[in-house]
Amino acid sequence: MSALQRGRFITLEGGEGAGKTTAMQVVIDWLEQDGRTVVRSREPGGTRAAERIREVLLDPSTGELDPLSELLLMFAARVENLVHVIRPTLAKGQDVVCDRFTDASAAYQGGGRELGPEPIRRLAGLVHPDLAPDLTLLLDVPVAVGLARIRNRTTGPDRIEQAREGFLERVRKAYLAMAEAEPERFCVIDASQPLDKVRADIQRALDRRLR
Ligand SMILES: Nc1ncnc2c1ncn2[C@@H]1O[C@H](COP(=O)(O)OP(=O)(O)OP(=O)(O)O)[C@@H](O)[C@H]1O
Ligand SMILES: [Mg+2]
Repeated sequence: MSALQRGRFITLEGGEGAGKTTAMQVVIDWLEQDGRTVVRSREPGGTRAAERIREVLLDPSTGELDPLSELLLMFAARVENLVHVIRPTLAKGQDVVCDRFTDASAAYQGGGRELGPEPIRRLAGLVHPDLAPDLTLLLDVPVAVGLARIRNRTTGPDRIEQAREGFLERVRKAYLAMAEAEPERFCVIDASQPLDKVRADIQRALDRRLR
C-alpha cells in the first residue's frame, strides 16, 4: 500500500495589520482551484483549548507576563493545534493554511521580547522536530503602515500590541532575518502595495513554489 502523500503546510506571517488574514483567502482560493481540500487555522488558537489560551495571551486584563511564560503559553496552544488540527489534516492528505506559526514566536518573543532565537529553537525541537511549513509567506510592511491599517478596528489593541516602543520594529527585523536565512521556505511579499498587487504577488509566489 502506498502511503498517502501528506498535505501541504502553508503559514502566513507578518506584523500587526500587514494583511495576513486578508492573504489567507487568496491562498485558500488558489489551493482550492488547484483541487485541494484546505483547512484553515490560526495561532495562538485553532482548537477550543488553544483559543482559551489565546484569550489569556491577548486580553489586556491578563497584565504583564514574563516573556518566557508568554512563549510557553504560545507553545502550549501550538501543541493543541498540532495534535488536533494540523497533523491529522496533513496526514489525510489535506492542506493546512495557518495564520501565524512558530516563526511568530521567534519574531515576537525571540525578537520583540528579546528572548533571542535559542528558546524558540529548543521548543520547536521538542514540539515539532519533524515538521516545518512547506511555504511561509511573510507579509512585510513598515510598522507605521500596519498600525495605521488596524487603527480603525473597533476593538482596542490587544495585550501584545500594547508592548512598548521599539517592540514592533524588532519583530519586523526578526522576521526579515529569518526570511533571509531560509529563502527556500520563505517568500517575502511587499504588503505595503495596494491590495490587488499584494494579491497578484501572492498568486505568483504560489505558482512558482507550489506547482
Ligand atoms: N495591501 C493593503 N492595502 C490596504 N489595506 C489593506 C491591505 N491589506 C490589508 N488591508 C486592510 O488592513 C486591515 C488589516 O488587514 P488584515 O486584518 O488582513 O491584517 P492582519 O495582518 O491579519 O492583522 P492582525 O495583525 O490584526 O491580525 C484590514 O482592514 C484590511 O482590509
Ligand atoms: Mg489577522
